[in-house]
Amino acid sequence: MNNNPIGVFDSGMGGLSVWRVLREQLPHESLLYFGDGARCPYGARPHEEVLRFTVESVEKMLSHGCKMIVLACNTATAVAVEHLRAQYPAVPFVGLEPAVKPAVLSTESGVVGVLATRRSLDGELFCRTSAKYADRARILPVVGEGFVEIVEQSRESEPETEETVRRVIEPIIDAGADRIVLGCTHYPFLREVIERIIGERPVVIVDSADAVERRVEYLLDEHNLRADKNHAPSYTFMSEAGEPYINALRTKVGLCEGK
Ligand code: DGL
Repeated sequence: MNNNPIGVFDSGMGGLSVWRVLREQLPHESLLYFGDGARCPYGARPHEEVLRFTVESVEKMLSHGCKMIVLACNTATAVAVEHLRAQYPAVPFVGLEPAVKPAVLSTESGVVGVLATRRSLDGELFCRTSAKYADRARILPVVGEGFVEIVEQSRESEPETEETVRRVIEPIIDAGADRIVLGCTHYPFLREVIERIIGERPVVIVDSADAVERRVEYLLDEHNLRADKNHAPSYTFMSEAGEPYINALRTKVGLCEGK
């Protein structure tokens, strides 16, 4: 069981921003990535639909022997993590949520922008977190309109992308935010563009990937699930969106097609 893969799930390609940190920090662990590219984006879909899609996808991953599931999708976590934990009590699940706490604790201006999908920002999880820190900072929830589509179509470097991203980022900075939380795993792929827009202004981007990786390590130890030290890891990519999409997943993390 210990050499079985860790499952990494996202609605599409966004979870690869978590996958690459896991691969770097856990070099003995096999990883099975499932991107639901055929049904992405999830962000504006009704709660029931996101729940059903997430449960179906996770069941496929479990049938491939995953020893742990990382919901590398803030939207899927907001909707489905409690349900999945109740349904599969023996499986360790790691969920993602916007890194509001470190942003609120470090802001100097007292204003924190949280970029995420509509479904994540509506969710109980985010409402609870923002209520908890409401007396420490002004939290501005903002949907990254069009961001997921750009990343799914690998248009990060196209000239029009900067305009789409600017339309979302400038109002957050104008409102006085000095922290911008990337609360959707697709958004780190736009980090360079966001940094260019921020320019010299004292605004820090806050991401959750490292905290999630530490949580994965903690749970591997707690459940005694670490792969053997001499285990040669395998990296599997799955999707029902077809072979070209699977190749695009591999390309996004710098693995050659078919290898
Ligand atoms: N990457 C996902 C997240 O972290 C969702 C993107 C989408 O499907 O809308 O929220």
